Amino acid sequence: MNEFQGRRIVLGVTGGVAAYKAAELVRLLVKAGAEVDVAMTAAGAQFVGAATFQALTGRRVWQALWDERMDNGMAHIDLTRGAAALLVAPATADFLAKLAHGFADDLLSTLCLARDCPLLVAPAMNRQMWENPATQRNVAQLRADAVSVLGPAHGEQACGEVGDGRMLEAQELFDELHASLQAKTLAGKRVLLTAGPTFEALDPVRGLTNSSSGKMGFALARACAEAGAEVTLVTGPVTSATPRGVLRVDVKSACQMRDAVMRALPGQDVFIGVAAVADYRPRQESAQKIKKGTATLTLELEANPDILAEVAARPDAPFCVGFAAESQDLAKYAEGKRVAKKLALVVGNLVQDGLGGDSNAVTLFDAAGAHVLPPAEKSEVARGIVAHIASLMEQ
Ligand code: C5P
Repeated sequence: MNEFQGRRIVLGVTGGVAAYKAAELVRLLVKAGAEVDVAMTAAGAQFVGAATFQALTGRRVWQALWDERMDNGMAHIDLTRGAAALLVAPATADFLAKLAHGFADDLLSTLCLARDCPLLVAPAMNRQMWENPATQRNVAQLRADAVSVLGPAHGEQACGEVGDGRMLEAQELFDELHASLQAKTLAGKRVLLTAGPTFEALDPVRGLTNSSSGKMGFALARACAEAGAEVTLVTGPVTSATPRGVLRVDVKSACQMRDAVMRALPGQDVFIGVAAVADYRPRQESAQKIKKGTATLTLELEANPDILAEVAARPDAPFCVGFAAESQDLAKYAEGKRVAKKLALVVGNLVQDGLGGDSNAVTLFDAAGAHVLPPAEKSEVARGIVAHIASLMEQ
């Protein structure tokens, strides 16, 4: 699902050294099939010349409020009409301040005010400029005005200092823009997910766990948020960063995960169990570290609650989705699980095709049969799963 194909993006470039990354971003957008109109401020043109953007976009760059190419003299309005998004990258502290206060004294600031498409900004500035209370006030105001603020990142700056204020890289901006263009198929819906492994403690330092990376669950949480849902993610111990706009609840054991899910469940429209929940836990957690010395050690295990089955069995159950990671006979086991746990949908994959990695190949099993999704990165697979959930919920 390439949301850029045949769509027009307006890219605003203001006066920061990160303007060179904007040139790379344009290249990525054009390669993905987007038409890109670049509007530069006078300061922006000091960093990267209009000729560079013109060559990359195949279109002349917009710089003047009174550009004669628009017969009606209304470039400040017409340029964003029909555009999928307006992204200002880099956005300087000065430009953010103008935007927060509604100034419109050049083409780009006027475009931002007169737009009828989403506005995204990628701040780029010295760390102290970013931390300055005035900038922080302006950014808070922009967020309150529904402007998406992308970044900034932490790291080394052009001035030699280290801190927050670096503009995101071109690929990151591309991904963020792509995410923001996703169809809002879950708008108004509340989605609860589990992700990652669980950790069943044996003693204060050891436990039983598994190799689930949490990547698929996090990708799905992100895809649900991109589709407009209000998302809560209950996760076992993983290192992944929380997707933007997602409420994260960290847990360790299966029992903690179950309790967190039950607390968050009221009012949810969808429950997606992605977590690799341990089927068993030690009957007793030793208060002290277990010492070696005996030739054998017997662990007594007891069954954990099946969180998904418990949620799906409730009379007020939300739309329930499960995962089936199998090493063989995928269709038989996945469909069996769907029926046994009373699920609307099971996402099945062969463990050799996905566990731990960044890509995945899955088949969706629902009441109508099996639907194969093409192998892709987990973020793309997650979008495909969300589209399928949304279409089933519409029926
Ligand atoms: O039965 P199996 O463990 O293979 O089912 C996998 C599905 O059930 C996954 O969606 C998983 O998140 C969920 N599950 C659960 N609680 C368990 C075991 C599995 O929610 N104790």
